[in-house]
Amino acid sequence: MNKLVFLFFNLFILTASAQKFENLAQTPPMGWNSWNKFACDINEKVIREAADYMVSSGMKDAGYEYIVIDDCWHGKRDSLGFITADKERFPSGMKALVDYVHSKGLKFGIYSDAGWETCGGRPGSRGREFQDAQTYAKWGVDYLKYDWCETEGLKAEGAYMTMRNALREAGRPIVLSICEWGDNQPWEWGEDIGHLWRTTGDIYNCFDCEENHGTWSSFGVLQILDMQDGLRQYAGPGHWNDPDMMEVGNGMSVNEDRAHFTMWCMLAAPLIAGNDLANMSTETVEILTNKEAIAINQDELGIQGFKYKTIEDVEVWFKPLKNKEWAVTFLNRGDKEQKITFDWRNENVVDKLNNLVANFDEITYQLKDVWKHKYVGKTKKKLKITIPSHDVVTYKLLK
Ligand code: GLA
Repeated sequence: MNKLVFLFFNLFILTASAQKFENLAQTPPMGWNSWNKFACDINEKVIREAADYMVSSGMKDAGYEYIVIDDCWHGKRDSLGFITADKERFPSGMKALVDYVHSKGLKFGIYSDAGWETCGGRPGSRGREFQDAQTYAKWGVDYLKYDWCETEGLKAEGAYMTMRNALREAGRPIVLSICEWGDNQPWEWGEDIGHLWRTTGDIYNCFDCEENHGTWSSFGVLQILDMQDGLRQYAGPGHWNDPDMMEVGNGMSVNEDRAHFTMWCMLAAPLIAGNDLANMSTETVEILTNKEAIAINQDELGIQGFKYKTIEDVEVWFKPLKNKEWAVTFLNRGDKEQKITFDWRNENVVDKLNNLVANFDEITYQLKDVWKHKYVGKTKKKLKITIPSHDVVTYKLLK
């Protein structure tokens, strides 16, 4: 009996004292993930090449850091229950791959699932959380995306807490990416457990669509954007809303890719590319490496932007930046180009949540066009612009 009490006491202490690793993901994580382009068709060559091209394309210089292997890397558990990599697809083993990615100055991410099996039917971590966390730490993993398939009977908050505690116990600082599709309001409990949480079901490469798969849907860019409504209060340094990995370079038009990327920047969303880095068009590289757009995303205040108003098909979004500066985006959701007049001094832009006001009577800002890379005027003059269909015009308002 005494022994049992002692055991429970220890368990209580372990659970109560475990904390997520702080000081990680102080700005939204940036990287690449294999799923959107390659799904289960991955191997060590694909991952090595992603790392190679992340460096040679300039993405690393622009701030991208994590190379994340998604589902389907797994082989079987060994006789002691430790997970191994699929021997055919990853003949050199996972440790060698992690070392390779690290040798490029990048960080390594891996994928598992809180349930018995991953969504792709590979072994999940249920009941093996501490053992798997130890394995990841031993391999040198820096980031874990933790999914939610085959989790009958589990409570999300508890299951993610178990993995948080397991990672803590393993001792290596690892970013924990919660992926339960927003089903259990992770924004309400995720801050103490992980560093980012998916807010929606899966994205796919379409701008304005929903694909119904029966019991679940995948969503286009605009559908996902609309689902972020009401969530900005939960995001901040170390804990981000994650509207899913990007589809830039995966088949939408250049205008749509630009709009998609810009909105993820305005949302302070994790910027996880999901395209084939070894085969990118110049336009795709230009979008993914736009340093001015990335600076909006990575602004140290870590404030998620908000929809200020809608003018017919155009949404006007603002994002507060450090030093009382702002980013503003005019997003044209419609099928036709739109002409807009915007008189700054008649507008009343207030971020109530953070008590910030863009007072255009007091401060005259310079407009720096983030996609044309030039100064285009000041806020004391009315703005007159044309926004192509499914595209954006974005400015930094600089003092
Ligand atoms: C879920 C996730 C996706 C991806 C797949 C892998 O659908 O939401 O992002 O990880 O599983 O099977």
